[in-house]
Amino acid sequence: MKAVIPAAGLGTRFLPIAKAVPKEMLPLGDKPVIHYVVAEAAAAGFDEILIILSKGKECIMQYFTPNPDLESHLEAAGKQAALEEVRRVSAMARIEYAYQEKMRGLGDAVKIGREFIGDDPVFAVLLGDTVMQHSSPLDRMASAWKTLSKPSVCLEPCPEERVSRYGVAGGREIGEGLFDLTELVEKPAVSKAPRLESRNGSPLPYHAFAARYLFTPEIFDCLENTPAGFAGEIQLTDAMEQLRQKTGMLGVTWPGKRLDIGSPAGLIEAAQALGI
Ligand code: G1P
Repeated sequence: MKAVIPAAGLGTRFLPIAKAVPKEMLPLGDKPVIHYVVAEAAAAGFDEILIILSKGKECIMQYFTPNPDLESHLEAAGKQAALEEVRRVSAMARIEYAYQEKMRGLGDAVKIGREFIGDDPVFAVLLGDTVMQHSSPLDRMASAWKTLSKPSVCLEPCPEERVSRYGVAGGREIGEGLFDLTELVEKPAVSKAPRLESRNGSPLPYHAFAARYLFTPEIFDCLENTPAGFAGEIQLTDAMEQLRQKTGMLGVTWPGKRLDIGSPAGLIEAAQALGI
């Protein structure tokens, strides 16, 4: 199965280092953040991957592309363990690359994947700056697709003071950790933020989109029809709301935790959480 990993953002919260090192290439131990994202996708069966880059982020490509000179050097030096480690990086998935020319938002970046996805019935989107602790939600999302044939977004509880930083979901619980969504809003004011309801109708804490999505290719038509939204950008959330109206959209929670490495504090927290 296929996945799209948007990794084109400027990393403004990581300046000045993001001038030269993409935030997705910052280290968690001896591997860059995006290594964990590709490994997560591949482990869930999404091993044909399109990474969306922007100019200056070519070292992401370099990281995943085999390096015959390095490999023969390691071989000649008898550094077998390092050689195997290096080869494993390129063997995880079949990866292609495309460029986002202008920073028009996450929706615009995902739209670039249209040709790559082609007629596949379903595909995943994993944000390149987010690593999952404990487990990936992708297996649950894929099994929800198998039983209900609906696209989905991964959800995580969000404290009220952070609601205006994320996409936020409203909807009704239809199964353990499974929600039929009724409203999707990008970075709402608290007063406008939708809520989830439990099966007995009681309100649950706010839930934000947690960087993993499972879409049908109909999302691309929705993206074509999406005008600039929050911050003047093409918002993926706005296209998802259109898709929800056409086919329905599920929200899926999972027993893991989202580690957002988009800021220095987030990267340190992620390293601690992963015990690196
Ligand atoms: C993006 C999405 C948002 C989502 C967030 C974390 O926002 O637009 O809906 O909740 O990622 O997954 P960003 O962090 O790029 O502003």
